Amino acid sequence: MSDKPVILTDQNTGKSVELPIIRGTEGEPTLDIKSVAPELGYFTYDPGYAGTASCTSKITFIDGGKGILRYRGYPIEQLAESSSFLEVAFLLLNGELPNQDEYTEFVNEITYHSMVHEKLNTFISGFHFDAHPMAMMAGVVGSLAAFYHAKLDMNNPVERKLAAMRMIAKMPTLAAACYRHYMGWPSAYPLNNLSYTERFLHMMFSVPAESYKVSPVAAKAFDLLFILHADHEQNASTSTVRLVGSTGANPYACVAAGISALWGPAHGGANEEVLKMLEQIGHVSNVAKFVDKAKDRDDPFRLMGFGHRVYKNYDPRASIIREAAHEVLDELGRSDPLMDLAMELERIALEDEYFIEKKLYPNVDFYSGIIYRALGIPVSMFTVMFAIARTVGWVSQWLEQANNPSRIGRPRQVYTGPAERPYVDIEQR
Ligand code: SDX
Repeated sequence: MSDKPVILTDQNTGKSVELPIIRGTEGEPTLDIKSVAPELGYFTYDPGYAGTASCTSKITFIDGGKGILRYRGYPIEQLAESSSFLEVAFLLLNGELPNQDEYTEFVNEITYHSMVHEKLNTFISGFHFDAHPMAMMAGVVGSLAAFYHAKLDMNNPVERKLAAMRMIAKMPTLAAACYRHYMGWPSAYPLNNLSYTERFLHMMFSVPAESYKVSPVAAKAFDLLFILHADHEQNASTSTVRLVGSTGANPYACVAAGISALWGPAHGGANEEVLKMLEQIGHVSNVAKFVDKAKDRDDPFRLMGFGHRVYKNYDPRASIIREAAHEVLDELGRSDPLMDLAMELERIALEDEYFIEKKLYPNVDFYSGIIYRALGIPVSMFTVMFAIARTVGWVSQWLEQANNPSRIGRPRQVYTGPAERPYVDIEQR
């Protein structure tokens, strides 16, 4: 049975408009409001786009009430358990899981594109040594357009796909180069005989003075974290990539814009802020005081890694990452007082009426830093880890939009500034 349209009637004029109902794959109802402005003469106002769909997409499905996340229909729990990051990258880009030949070819192509132009290392060497790695990444990824854009025919789907593959392949190389610049180490180059995460870890931590053996625990943990961070429908950074892409800008500029959006502490930058918050809390005995601060509307302090615009239930990624954090610490034979602190903070918050009433649960950023820290990643690089993984989602969403040309994104506003007034010469002011 198809839905009857919703009738919107303006009681001031008596005019009505029929608003068709669009239902997504899971039956989620959406009102098509395209006709409201031209037929009723009203803009619609939804700050933060809390209830607004910006596009249709076949890539990722989230049910925030049930805590469901699926990539191309596959539950995140099953992909986390059985897949690999590059297999998930193939799935997000192409819509289907690869067969063995497709997977082998895809891995080889990503491996082939993992090197970067040597001038990019020169570019990175120009940053102050203690520049924030996200600042470096936003700059250097945007500069890829200066190395590859000239030959990029944006109207050619083959070249668009090549640009997407190049970014997936080169993000770890650029991230490691930023870290090595900070450490004052010489460049490290991608080794084609390693897997995606092994190659990344080798570029991050190998030094010329001795051979470096990649920890299988670390390689496996990063592969899982990259799967969990790969895509998340129309979040702030992905929406940024789509908006920039809607102008016809090149994909390198789109991803650089996504990196900048991700950096914010309300978004991907939260993983870095969670660690700083846990270190600020310091001890379990201080947890109650900080939970009270988070509840105080006059206090700007928020529980970082908690809350989500869409999930009003447990973020399924947070559950998986919490278990992985325990496994990594166990396999490394370590404990981390901040893990104990995080779990106590979660326990107290989830029992607190404020967090229950506002449906605030741990999100993807709450436990991820515990793993990064255990594996030697400095806090300033946490959001770069997120960016490496989310590049797959960004380029998949950019390609989906580029392959189905859409109108340029151009929101309107409610103007609340001064009404018309005449110019006054400076002598009369
Ligand atoms: C990511 O969109 C995505 O999918 C993002 C992401 C992805 O994979 O791309 O999942 C990744 O960005 C996860 C979120 C990481 N950010 C943080 O952990 C920062 C802390 N969280 C918040 O700032 C907040 O919860 C947001 C930004 C995540 C969501 O903000 P919303 O949806 O705009 O919610 P809100 O700010 O309107 O909060 C609703 C209420 C408010 O109280 P009232 O004004 O109604 O009284 O809940 C309160 C807020 O004060 N609240 C919090 C809180 N988060 C919300 N109070 C204390 N601590 C918090 N963390």
